[in-house]
Amino acid sequence: MAEKNMNATLTFGDKTITMPMYSPVRGPDVIDIRKLYAEGDVFTYDPGFTSTAACDSKITYIDGDKGELLYRGYPIEQLAEKSHFLESCFLLLYGNLPSAAEMADFNARVTRHTMVHEQMHYFFRGFRRDAHPMATMVGVMGAMSAFYHDSTDITDPWQREVASIRMIAKLPTIAAMAYKYSVGQPFVYPKNDLDYAANFLHMCFAVPCEDYVVNPILSRAMDRIMMLHADHEQNASTSTVRLAGSSGANPFACIAAGIACLWGPAHGGANEACLQMLREIGTVDRIPEFIKRAKDKNDPFRLMGFGHRVYKNFDPRATVMKQSAAEVLDLLGVHNNPTLQVAKELERIALEDEYFIEKKLYPNVDFYSGIILDAMGFPTSMFTPIFAVSRTVGWISQWKEMVEDPTQRIGRPRQLYVGEPARDYIDIEKR
Ligand code: SDX
Repeated sequence: MAEKNMNATLTFGDKTITMPMYSPVRGPDVIDIRKLYAEGDVFTYDPGFTSTAACDSKITYIDGDKGELLYRGYPIEQLAEKSHFLESCFLLLYGNLPSAAEMADFNARVTRHTMVHEQMHYFFRGFRRDAHPMATMVGVMGAMSAFYHDSTDITDPWQREVASIRMIAKLPTIAAMAYKYSVGQPFVYPKNDLDYAANFLHMCFAVPCEDYVVNPILSRAMDRIMMLHADHEQNASTSTVRLAGSSGANPFACIAAGIACLWGPAHGGANEACLQMLREIGTVDRIPEFIKRAKDKNDPFRLMGFGHRVYKNFDPRATVMKQSAAEVLDLLGVHNNPTLQVAKELERIALEDEYFIEKKLYPNVDFYSGIILDAMGFPTSMFTPIFAVSRTVGWISQWKEMVEDPTQRIGRPRQLYVGEPARDYIDIEKR
């Protein structure tokens, strides 16, 4: 972070506060307000953190106006075309693309951690079969600290590394177990001769009664979906993980908090809500009715999969996902998929509509992902768990960056208090 020679001066009442400004490698300059309360006895006010940089980070950069997403400086489009998910995990975690030897070692370490403790099978049995897989995942992830005590000391670099590898390796297994449990099928163990995405598909769709051969088209599409969702700067769930981690909580508890936050339909839950919306629309002729509702201030309905706090241009992930959706459906021989037709027409109409243009609402990562996952055979309830599997490496990379920052302190925002002034207790007989 290069310190800028310019200062920001804030004058209010009889006070003038001068604060340093910093210039990032990319993106807006920042004003360091850390001494504002001590010197000016005032807080800044930014619910939703629209204008707040909560940390400095080297991991992911987003340019909302250009529709640009970089993982450690590499454009997502290039990674989606030339890389694979586990290589992107190495890049996000350690900061550079791996050599062939480093990639082989990383792959071997992740592979060796894909099984979960056998006792976890019994932990799953405590849930109802019809529990939402996200509920199961939040519970099981939180319980990981009850199974892996030897990697919960965040002050030990080796334990941080082991916990990171364990979570990247085990999340697909846990997500697949959540799916199998919800459909009443036996759990399928990971296979060390399959790559990350193929292993996940195998654990989800194989059954003991017959061999299951992973379709390479689906495996490549799954790998690409995982890569596109891997990290995204300081989004809600990542900020949740950082805040939980700032108290010194163990890494499993922090990632469980991230999964819980991701579940919301305004965030990672949007992919499930988006496919449900596309199905509710059903046919192209009903699109205008839903566009009208999305624009109606009195109607809470929003176009799921549209809009973004940062992207005021196309979400570059949506562009890749749209292309992938068409390829996968075509290669699977699923032509004229009604949901894809509705999605494409909805996108076309919305992008020509004054309301969406004025508010800069474009399809986001969740708009097309559900169509691919649906074509793969996943129920909508598994869409957000798959997002969580992908985002785990981003959460962990951001958590590690924060824990390893010697200047980091516990996060503790303040508030604008608008409640009752101090008042005396009144005995119940006098109320
Ligand atoms: C993800 O942050 C990340 O990086 C998240 C994510 C990641 O990788 O981690 O990218 C993943 O969460 C993608 C977003 C998925 N969510 C959805 O698709 C749900 C639908 N979208 C919205 O709810 C909304 O767009 C948000 C939550 C994504 C963004 O909300 P903001 O930034 O708070 O914007 P806003 O709600 O203030 O909307 C601005 C205006 C409002 O109108 P006005 O009050 O100004 O008149 O745009 C309107 C909104 O009503 N608007 C929409 C809309 N999204 C915003 N109107 C109709 N349909 C929509 N989808």
